[in-house]
Amino acid sequence: MTTQTLITEIIKKRYSCRTYKQTPIDKDQQMPVETFLSENKTSPFGSSLRFKLVTATEAENNDLKSLGTYGVIKNPAGFIIGAVKNGPKNLEDFGYTMEKNILFATRMGLGTCWLGGTFTKSTFADKIDAKADETIPAVTATGHIASPKSILEKTMRWGAGADNRKPWQTLFFKNKFDQPLSTEEFKEWNTPLEMVRLGPSASNRQPWRIVKQADSNIFHFYMQRSKGYQTRNRMLFGIADLQRVDMGIAMCHFEMTAVDLGIAGQWRFEEPDVGRIPELTSYAASWEVKDHE
Ligand SMILES: Cc1cc2nc3c(=O)[nH]c(=O)nc-3n(C[C@H](O)[C@H](O)[C@H](O)COP(=O)(O)O)c2cc1C
Repeated sequence: MTTQTLITEIIKKRYSCRTYKQTPIDKDQQMPVETFLSENKTSPFGSSLRFKLVTATEAENNDLKSLGTYGVIKNPAGFIIGAVKNGPKNLEDFGYTMEKNILFATRMGLGTCWLGGTFTKSTFADKIDAKADETIPAVTATGHIASPKSILEKTMRWGAGADNRKPWQTLFFKNKFDQPLSTEEFKEWNTPLEMVRLGPSASNRQPWRIVKQADSNIFHFYMQRSKGYQTRNRMLFGIADLQRVDMGIAMCHFEMTAVDLGIAGQWRFEEPDVGRIPELTSYAASWEVKDHE
């Protein structure tokens, strides 16, 4: 994949790769990834973030097992570790920026897999020298993709329903949650919305919901929590609030696709009045298009 490849192609190519070849990442792939990580600091809500690419050792693999992070990751060559300062919207910012790393690694031909957990007291934390006011909500496994997929990986994908996405009309709405957005009405927005739909999410729960204002190009992003998911994750495994991370990923896919299509915009955080909001649903952010005809 070249630097010219459209973001839509990269988003479609990405999947959670859980089996890697037993070869290290080549220098000519490693260096651009490291440069990208060191420069990837801009996030919608301005949280302070940093990332580091580390080579996988036995210690990290053991940590993954003991942290109860689902799935089996075989032979990752390395991990992208990220630390974010504690603060409002920090998990959304983490999702947004880590997903940018993932799409960059995909562009470089590498496989990736998000791994959610609480890595704050782990080998991963030591490797990035995490401070007391920082959190590591997830890490990303990376390396050369082994093909074909192992039977275990195929079973895992089937178990997580990884190739399934919720239908368009249950995710995207016009003005209010009781009015599904038709793919016929605002056609130029179909691609950014579809790229949100193809995004990765923790346990493939797809918590993102988007309400488009009919009279202007403003998109309100909401998070619809899966009942009991976060409580169970936190109590059983001490895992961070991954559905907020998912929201950041959706914001990343939407913005990068819109920008690739030549539509500039900005993030705002001002809860609109969209009438009745479904159960377990809360406002996350709005994307407002700048001077678009
Ligand atoms: C925040 C987050 C955490 C995740 N944690 C894990 C994990 O711990 N283990 C794992 O095998 N997959 C994990 N995944 C991958 C999801 O299961 C995957 O994105 C989803 O099933 C959709 O499949 P796809 O990424 O192949 O499109 C995670 C994804 C996200 C976004």
